[in-house]
Amino acid sequence: MILQVLIIISIALQLVAAVVAIRLTRVTKYNISWLLFTLGLVLMCMIRLSEYIYVVGGREWHLPPHFMAWVGVVTSLCFAVGMFYVGKIIHSTRRLNYQRKLTERRILTTVLRTEETERLNFSKELHDGLGPLLSSARMSLGELAKNCSSKEDAELIANTTYVIDEAIRSIREISNKLSPHTLNSFGLSRAVSNFVNKTISINPNRNVEIRFDTNLKTERFDPNVEVILYRVIGELINNSMKHSGATLLTLGLTYADDTVTIDYSDNGKGFDTAAVLDTGMGLSNITSRIQSLKGTVEITSERGKGMSAHISVNVGHSDERRQKL
Ligand SMILES: Nc1ncnc2c1ncn2[C@@H]1O[C@H](COP(=O)(O)OP(=O)(O)O)[C@@H](O)[C@H]1O
Ligand SMILES: [Mg+2]
Repeated sequence: MILQVLIIISIALQLVAAVVAIRLTRVTKYNISWLLFTLGLVLMCMIRLSEYIYVVGGREWHLPPHFMAWVGVVTSLCFAVGMFYVGKIIHSTRRLNYQRKLTERRILTTVLRTEETERLNFSKELHDGLGPLLSSARMSLGELAKNCSSKEDAELIANTTYVIDEAIRSIREISNKLSPHTLNSFGLSRAVSNFVNKTISINPNRNVEIRFDTNLKTERFDPNVEVILYRVIGELINNSMKHSGATLLTLGLTYADDTVTIDYSDNGKGFDTAAVLDTGMGLSNITSRIQSLKGTVEITSERGKGMSAHISVNVGHSDERRQKL
């Protein structure tokens, strides 16, 4: 009795597996593999069925051994060829994944490039368009001031001049933030150095030291690489200034063997890297920007123990021609 139940269970399971296999034909490429599995499973069901009949009906219901052996061979063949095609399915899935990743990276690079080009255009418009207009307005006011006799008018002119000066300064600042002129003209090392000095100077009351160390001199890289590394460093420093309460930030920028490496750390309050993934765009932008350059990012932190980031990007040879710009 137990034997009969066991055979029925195995027949039921094989039929379920056959139904699953036939359903998969609609889902994947090389659906012949699933048809072969279905056939193999149906044949196995038949073998189990003959066993059941043998157990129930006795020896006279026994099918010829040769026939059973052939059914066994055909079943095994179905599974073997089926497996071969499953291998092909896996291979083609891998290839598709690889192509998808490549396309994603290309899209990301294009988006980042377009963003930077737009920033550059906007920055130029501000700097070269609005800047000179304000400067000439200021000059006219200067002329007006020379011929001004009344005290009130002189005060008004002085105030307006002050406002225009502020506007010019803030346009310069915005334009520089949109697309750092130092980066475009002198390269990464000088731009980062300027950024570090500026960060310190706009936080004069805070007791923060930034140690910046680099072996980069005037080397120039692909503008896309330079701007991405600059923005990433900017985000790391801004995060430390904004969130960490750190007193010491250390930044190492090394160029060796065609690779630029950023070693960054702060001694602030640290954070749970897994928990902040959805908090802001900064950290995820760092990862996606570096991934668009096929680089690697490793950000580690623990509450109370500061944070550190290790980033490396293969940038190829530095461009000697651009050094002379
Ligand atoms: N250096 C740091 N020290 C402490 N906390 C940090 C640091 N960098 C990031 N964080 C934490 O990670 C969160 C996400 O950072 P980020 O993605 O840059 O977004 P945002 O700066 O806009 O908040 C921050 O809100 C902060 O809680
Ligand atoms: Mg941030």
